[in-house]
Amino acid sequence: MGSAKEILGIDVGGSGIKGAIVDVTTGELLTERFRVTTPQPATPKAMTKAFKELLSKFDYEGEIIGVGFPAIVSHGVALSAANIHEDWIGTSIAKLWGKASNKKVYALNDADAAGLSSVFFGRAKTHEGVVIFLTIGTGIGSAMFVDGVLVPNTELGHFYMPNGMKSEHFASGKVRKDHDLSWDTWGKRFNQVLAQVERLFSPDLILLGGGASKKFENYKHLLKTNAEVLPAAMMNQAGTVGAAVYAYQQSNKG
Ligand code: BGC
Repeated sequence: MGSAKEILGIDVGGSGIKGAIVDVTTGELLTERFRVTTPQPATPKAMTKAFKELLSKFDYEGEIIGVGFPAIVSHGVALSAANIHEDWIGTSIAKLWGKASNKKVYALNDADAAGLSSVFFGRAKTHEGVVIFLTIGTGIGSAMFVDGVLVPNTELGHFYMPNGMKSEHFASGKVRKDHDLSWDTWGKRFNQVLAQVERLFSPDLILLGGGASKKFENYKHLLKTNAEVLPAAMMNQAGTVGAAVYAYQQSNKG
């Protein structure tokens, strides 16, 4: 197992579940990127149905699938549930979706997946030191790399700001939309989140992914960090590509 280099990557988000077959040597998508809506409530049962619906759009003959999942993921098991149903806590994504697809499923945190694709194919590729990748969407996801090595499950959307709010409750993409915040107001909030990230980790580079990274021009002048902040090169595809790369790596491990 594991020699095939064309792997189905799936990016599970709070609003959509997206997938494509990825060439893990180049990071290119070999198929269209299909999407199904994340069911609400996002229980294991309802999401497994959506996962199967997404699979049915592919004629995938490979043996392994990579899944980026919006939770702490340890050894294939979800250990948190901020924007999905709490029944996920303690559920093995690898086992449940392995059974549902009859394939070997490798799961990791969604932001860790997106960050990995930047390390392999994007802006973080040649970067030494501490790189922090933040995804701005339903929540705030994070991936931290030290000299290119992932420190998994950093969950920087869940630290508390000096105002007592969790960072993702203060400045996620969903918060901007739900409260109809201007880019100016939201950008100033996000700058405060970055200030805390810098205080804690002094990163050398901060990369942004997720929906708001596409509008970087609207708020980049408000970000006053020491570290350079850049939108991630692959933006929307990053999670899908990173999930496929992760599955490839894991299946080739000893
Ligand atoms: C979750 C993270 C996830 C992020 C982005 C957060 O609410 O706790 O695990 O990476 O949302 O989806």
